[in-house]
Amino acid sequence: MSATVSDKLLAWYDSHARALPWRAPPGAPRPDPYRVWLSEVMLQQTTVAAVIPFFEKFTATWPSVGALAAAPEEDVMAAWAGLGYYSRARNLVKCARVIAEQGGFPETEAELRKLPGLGAYTAAAVAAIAFGQRAVVVDANVERVVSRLFAIRDPLPGSRPAIRAATETITPDERAGDFAQAMMDLGASLCTARDAKCLLCPLSAECRARSEGNPLELPVKAKK
Ligand code: ADE
Repeated sequence: MSATVSDKLLAWYDSHARALPWRAPPGAPRPDPYRVWLSEVMLQQTTVAAVIPFFEKFTATWPSVGALAAAPEEDVMAAWAGLGYYSRARNLVKCARVIAEQGGFPETEAELRKLPGLGAYTAAAVAAIAFGQRAVVVDANVERVVSRLFAIRDPLPGSRPAIRAATETITPDERAGDFAQAMMDLGASLCTARDAKCLLCPLSAECRARSEGNPLELPVKAKK
């Protein structure tokens, strides 16, 4: 199943990927790690639409990790105003300074994970998207798509290890970053929390939730 799912998803991505400012322009081999990292930090708890203007302003002011590392923390905090979760901005500056001191971004998930404030999700996302490493990238969109694809009915958050294991079985060796972003785009456009546009979905033939009944019932969330 693995080749089929990732091949179909990547073919869909090749014609439907959203043009987002942190992605590589068509024809470019890889996006800039600085832009990937910055966007992934901004996208935690903030929507793509809300992030774009902040991302544009940040990268115009600080076009490289070295420029951000040299910025006064107050300037970065001021530019962050509106994005919320200010600890992310403080961590961002701290992390930029360490990366600049090290002479650039490390390329593996394990090395990225050692940077201050850089969590498991961001390490996997940057390793896959910026450096083409095979890393398993799971955010809330991916959790929803994978819960449906494999009809994982155990409630979140307890089902996270099963979701991660299932995602790992379909992550390709090549283009793991495109695969991760394709899953996110699918979750943001066709396989949303309130709607499942299965007729348009490249994975509908292999989706167990679709064949078993109602994809909108998944993922199940534990009662608080
Ligand atoms: N959400 C978080 N990271 C993303 C990315 N790289 N593309 C689309 N949505 C995202």
